[in-house]
This record gives sequence, structure tokens and C-alpha cells, in this order.
Amino acid sequence: MSSFRSRQRSQSSRHFIRPLDEAGTEPQAPAAVPAAAPSRAPAAPEARPHGRAPVAIRAERVSAMFAPCPRGLEGVLAEELAALGATSIDKRNNGVAFCGDNAVMMRANLESRTASRILIQLAQGSYRSEQDVYKLALTIDWPRWFAVGKTIKVKTDGVGSALRSLDFISLKVKDAVCDRFRQADLGRPSVDTRYPDVRIHVFLSADQATVYIDSSGEPLFKRGWREDTGEAPLRENLAAGILLLAGYDGSQALLDPMMGSGTFLVEAADIALNRAPGRLRDFAFRDLRSFDAVEWESVQARARQAEKPLTALPIRGSDVSVQMLVKTRHNLKQAGLHGLVQIAQSDVLDTRPHAETGLIVTNPPYGVRLDEQEDLALLYPQLGGWLKQHFSGWTANFFTGDLRLAKLIRLSPKQRMPLFNGALDCRLFVIPMVAGSNRAKEGAGG
Ligand SMILES: C[S@@+](CC[C@H](N)C(=O)[O-])C[C@H]1O[C@@H](n2cnc3c(N)ncnc32)[C@H](O)[C@@H]1O
Repeated sequence: MSSFRSRQRSQSSRHFIRPLDEAGTEPQAPAAVPAAAPSRAPAAPEARPHGRAPVAIRAERVSAMFAPCPRGLEGVLAEELAALGATSIDKRNNGVAFCGDNAVMMRANLESRTASRILIQLAQGSYRSEQDVYKLALTIDWPRWFAVGKTIKVKTDGVGSALRSLDFISLKVKDAVCDRFRQADLGRPSVDTRYPDVRIHVFLSADQATVYIDSSGEPLFKRGWREDTGEAPLRENLAAGILLLAGYDGSQALLDPMMGSGTFLVEAADIALNRAPGRLRDFAFRDLRSFDAVEWESVQARARQAEKPLTALPIRGSDVSVQMLVKTRHNLKQAGLHGLVQIAQSDVLDTRPHAETGLIVTNPPYGVRLDEQEDLALLYPQLGGWLKQHFSGWTANFFTGDLRLAKLIRLSPKQRMPLFNGALDCRLFVIPMVAGSNRAKEGAGG
């Protein structure tokens, strides 16, 4: 472990650890994973009350896992996981179930651009009462997974469960974890709801309960380069997924003319340079007994070797706001992209293409108040005119929760991909501008 990473780890409570609810596990990840997958814990070390086991255990076995993601990105995530070596891939709502060994789990954490977390399944069974879930959690040999000195937090989500209180389920599972430790004469782990070392997730369907241990810790959209300012930019894994859905492969010219804090720019540059999105952050699997430091080093080394050399990229961004320019410049620097991506202060209507063809990928402002909505109703037709006049040969990709855009821009989207930004129903409107004719096919949209 480099000193930089060690330093990051010791600062993790400041930069990376947030209460789970705020940090946003994707809601309602379905519980089931492929039935064939074993769900055993790694081989037991000698129980140690505190700290990491001295000898790492090689967990060669395959685990069933679930990766939640923003709804609409399941297909992209499934492709990513397949490329990382996952098997038994099964797309669900809000995520992808899959199988893999320890190396696949670590690679998915480090390299997936679209997963929100990587959850390892520990137990699954039918239930009717709270006590059934307690009994299910008690079957798990928790001291084999982590030392009693680690702090824990349990969170429960449910879809169609008849049980009244999900918080009560979390309490029962926490009791089961503590009881298993006590049965082994190890005392009991403490609960820390703000900065836990180990997060346990319970998912309830109408009749099945599944218990997972979280190998990620902080959600994976937290890449480690953004300073928490309390604002709500696009989540990084959603931005990366939008780029991939737009067909961005790192070779095309890319423009975000309403870049805000520059999320698309950073994610695009990481794709272009083939850099692992998780390279600047830490992961909870390092607190599990199954952690193998040597294997982790080799997973990281493999990812570093695949990186392309740093070079100026055909990626540009601009924003009308000077504050956003300052923020994006800072974010690019934090992400190690200083000087590689060009940014400027400009009104969207004054921006011009920097290549014959390319992709515009942008997330226009979204008006909540009436006056903002009226302003946007004026902006959208202007955006249509601006595209027709200057961007023939390009394809515009607008991600928005304002479903009026397609109609008001007065251009026909070729695709309207449904995506969720948290709970917000959004669309990715894909509008190819026909090369040579200088105009896209006009239409009512809608
Ligand atoms: C929804 S935010 C983009 C957020 C961004 N994707 C991020 O992750 O930070 C929309 C941005 O459009 C910018 N904007 C609004 N009107 C604009 C205009 N006429 N020209 C350029 N930028 C504009 C705003 O300043 C804001 O930063």
C-alpha cells in the first residue's frame, strides 16, 4: 500500500464515509441471485478480537454478488461485469446479480464505472416474520467475515414485504450478528451508524430475505476526487453510464457546454485514458478477513498497466457561470487531469464545435420554480437552432428530468432512453445532426 493510499485510508472518515442513507444505496435492489451460486464465507481464520488477521486468506471460492446501479444502466453494468470476469450475469431492476471470486469482486469495485456498490451474498431464505430474518442472519458465521473490533451498520430495503418496520429488521439482524460473536466468546461488535467499518444490507422481497455484506463501503460513485460541498451534481456512475449509453468510447471529440462541476468531463477523460474510476479511493473489502493484500496489489497493478499515457484530450467543457468554471478546474486538478481537458466560460449558444464530428453530452439546467421553467422554455428552441446551425455531423445527447425538452427543442430525438437520477424519472434524448444538410429532421418530438 502506497503512503498516499495509507493517508487516504486514515482520512477516510472525512472524505469518504457518509451515513448510508445520504450516500444513496440504490433503492430496492432485488434480493435473488443465481441459485447455483454458493454463498459461503471464506475459510475461517483463528478468531481474533481486534484488528486484521495476520495471514490473509485466499478466498478462491466463487460468491454470488449483487451490484446495484442507477435504474436504466443495468445493461451497461452487465457488459462491464462480463468484461471484468463475472459469470452468471443476470440483469434485474436497479442492478445486476452475478458470480465471481475475490479478484472479480475487487476488480468490480475498482473498475466498474456504473455500479453503485458490490454486495456479497451471505444468506438467502424465505421468511414470514422478523424472527425468521433473525434466524437467517444467525446462520452466518460472522466472526469468519470480520473481527469483533470492527464497527457495523445494518440497513434493510424491501420490495413488497408485508413486514411493518424495515428498521426493526435491521435491529434484529444486528442482534443476530452480535449473538454470533457472543456465542464464540468474542464479545460483540459496536454499532456506528455514521462511519461503520462493515455495512450489512438486508433485502426483503415479498417472501425472500437476503443478507449481504458490502464490499465497497462508500458508494462507488464517490471516486475520491470530489470535495463534498453539499451540492448535488450528477453522480459519477450515472454520468459515466450516460457517456457509455451515448456511445462514447474515448476516441471521439466530446463537448459539455453546460458542464456545471465537470462530472461528464472527468468521467469521459477516465474512459479515454482507460483509468480505473476507483483508483483514488478506498474500499470496505480491506476490512474483511477474506482480504488478500497480494491479490489486491496485483488487481491494482493490472489496472495501472492498462492506463493510456496522459495526453491532451479532445474533450471540452464550458458553462455560463464563472463559479462553475472555477469548480470544474479544481475537480479536473483533483482527478489528475489538469491541462488535458479544455474548459471555458461561455454561454451555450456561443460555443462552437472543435472537430468535424463528435458528441455533445450534457445535462441542461432543470427548473423547479415556475420562472425557471419559463426561462427553459425559451432556451430549448434556441438550443435547437444552435445545433442546426453549427453542429452538423455531431450527435447531441441531452440528459434531463424535464420531459418537455424533446418537444420544445423542435428536433426529433432518435432515442429517448429512460433513466433514473435517484427517484427522478429522466430521459437521455439522443439527437443526431445530419452531416451536410446542416439541419436535423424537424419534428414535434414529445
Ligand atoms: C444541471 S447543471 C449541470 C450539472 C453537471 N452535469 C454536474 O454534474 O455538475 C446545469 C449547468 O448549466 C449551466 N447553464 C445554465 N444556463 C446556461 C447557459 N445559457 N449557457 C451555459 N451554461 C448554462 C448552469 O450554470 C449549470 O452549471
